[in-house]
Amino acid sequence: MIFYFSGCGNSKHVAETIAAGLNDTIVFIPEAAREGRYEYELAEGERLGFVFPIYSWAPPKLVLDFVKKMIVKVGPSTGSGTLPYTYFACTCGDNCGLTEKVFRKAVEEKGWHLSACFSVQMPETYIGMPGFKLDTEKNAQLKIDRADDTMMRNIPRLIDNECFSEIVKGSLPWLKTYLVNPGFNKYATDDSKYRVDLKKCTSCGRCMYVCPVQNIKMPQGEPVWLGHCIMCMACYHQCRSNAIQYGKATVGKGQYYFGKKLRWK
Ligand SMILES: Cc1cc2nc3c(=O)[nH]c(=O)nc-3n(C[C@H](O)[C@H](O)[C@H](O)COP(=O)(O)O)c2cc1C
Repeated sequence: MIFYFSGCGNSKHVAETIAAGLNDTIVFIPEAAREGRYEYELAEGERLGFVFPIYSWAPPKLVLDFVKKMIVKVGPSTGSGTLPYTYFACTCGDNCGLTEKVFRKAVEEKGWHLSACFSVQMPETYIGMPGFKLDTEKNAQLKIDRADDTMMRNIPRLIDNECFSEIVKGSLPWLKTYLVNPGFNKYATDDSKYRVDLKKCTSCGRCMYVCPVQNIKMPQGEPVWLGHCIMCMACYHQCRSNAIQYGKATVGKGQYYFGKKLRWK
């Protein structure tokens, strides 16, 4: 069973590709969490997989919170079987810092053991601060092509239950994961900076439907953010009329969503 989170489709693509390779099923974490589905039973020998994007050099808090609450039983109804082969694949625009360390700790606190992990570079989705921008269309396509190679190389290793770690940490990983990330979670997920251009907004409701954590309502036909944003930026990237901006940071930066031809400028 593969548990995944994805804001803009990159990690969904990776989760679906791995699931196809392993003939496995996928569970969307925000939906499971919303419905209070935390208990799962794995068949003997079934793998336990996680796929998620890197948010500020760590797994998204939503993913870690879900793992913390999960109850996984192995084997026929008694849950008395051996520990499952557990792995994660994370998608990143560039690099992951000490994500492996953070996720390994979360898994070990459950009494599980992390056997394998790998990172997959995918097109950038974060543009919520000055200085952050999308990849060019050419670069984005290059990343997607290489990502498929990475997956084709690593899926057979998962099938073989191989123990391996192939994570791109980048420079100053400790600083990024243990200093920048807590600051990001505390200060950079403020959704009061979202605004909508009412001349462009068509009230189609797309932003509301694509929000993975149901943080948008449209009481008067225009989006209102409810204060529990995780900053995936799906609402911004998916808006067909480009009516949504995040402060001034997103102005003129284009839109990207996996599998959709959107605006690059
Ligand atoms: C809030 C946020 C923070 C991000 N932080 C990082 C990061 O620290 N390192 C990195 O390489 N990419 C970072 N990215 C880029 C994403 O990890 C990458 O584009 C990922 O593939 C998005 O996956 P998704 O489409 O499944 O949401 C960030 C993206 C967002 C939205």
